[in-house]
Amino acid sequence: MIYFDHNATTPVDEQVLEAMLPFYKTFYGNASSLHRIGRLSRGAVETARAQVAALVGVSPSQVILTSGGTEANNLAIRGSGGSLPRGSIAVGATEHPSVLEPLAALVNKGWRSNTLRVDDDGLIDPASIATITDPDLRFASVMLANNETGVVQDVATLADRFREQGILIHCDAVQGVGKIPVKFDTLKVNLLSLSGHKIYGPKGVGALIVDKSVALQPVLYGGGQERGLRGGTENVAAIVGIGKAAELALSGWDEAAKHLMKLRRRLECGLDALAPVRIFARDAVRLPNTVQFGIKGFDGEMIVMELDRRGVAVSSGSACSSEGNEPSHVLLAMGITPDLARSAVRISLGKQNTATDIDNFLEVLQRIIPAGGRRMQA
Ligand SMILES: Cc1ncc(COP(=O)(O)O)c(C=O)c1O
Repeated sequence: MIYFDHNATTPVDEQVLEAMLPFYKTFYGNASSLHRIGRLSRGAVETARAQVAALVGVSPSQVILTSGGTEANNLAIRGSGGSLPRGSIAVGATEHPSVLEPLAALVNKGWRSNTLRVDDDGLIDPASIATITDPDLRFASVMLANNETGVVQDVATLADRFREQGILIHCDAVQGVGKIPVKFDTLKVNLLSLSGHKIYGPKGVGALIVDKSVALQPVLYGGGQERGLRGGTENVAAIVGIGKAAELALSGWDEAAKHLMKLRRRLECGLDALAPVRIFARDAVRLPNTVQFGIKGFDGEMIVMELDRRGVAVSSGSACSSEGNEPSHVLLAMGITPDLARSAVRISLGKQNTATDIDNFLEVLQRIIPAGGRRMQA
């Protein structure tokens, strides 16, 4: 199988798995227990916290460990919403559902939402922030890198504009961390989310990085873990896993990015040779591993299924919903027509992919397009 769906999830790195296993087999103590085996678990959690902190350049006390990116985004948005006086929130039009849905929950409680529009490349114009006239704007959430297109926002400039107005800013950096350099201070945000399974760590673990000035309401009440912000017995093995993954990402992202950029260029050249392919946000700064394209007249989900039958795992740009194959809100926000958006296919490369994988994929795609073309739409 050729695996080209690393923005959905990455395989767990062998070294990460090695680091985790003892915490299932031998060191299974509860990190809150006072006995030795419990204290060993606590030590492992704190080591992992320091590793995550080092990856994004913060102090360990700024790291709140969560069950993943979704929970980190929920804690940032609902947690801030619970502690700030009710007002309004500005949010990018291309955000992930784990930002948009907690925001919708706040709107149900009387908050207002201001959508920050994006241009054809999926980028927010920093000047648009000045046009928000709502006097009660309290909070903003802007993603670092888009999960579909890979487009990287200039978060630092956006954050500057918000901070000038005293507005709290959160960044969903789940897709950026480990692929491009991400430092909390450089981004100038107050809150930042990341996730373990996007950086060759395990699923079900992530972190919210918080600026010490931020007050948050807990989202999960329970045993007072994580400074009372998310109760629940720590998943020590997974936390050890994200720690190790963070350590490996810190030392290896640069080399991985160079490798991925070479593969991305090879892929894009190959796609250009396959007539009418359109690479979305082609000229924007994008993650080194991500290429999303559309092929007019084709159905993206069907291309995904045809590729899967031939041993290639990719994803489409459509959000599967009970109502059927909805075009991606990200592409629609960029002014892509619904038809072209429905044809979207996303390739997200990983560090184990090779030039041969790219060549084999292009060969398979070439066979699918003339064979499946219009028929796929039926
Ligand atoms: C941009 C973005 N934010 C948040 C998430 C959610 O992260 P998790 O799967 O760890 O809950 C994802 C996952 O795909 C994502 O791509």
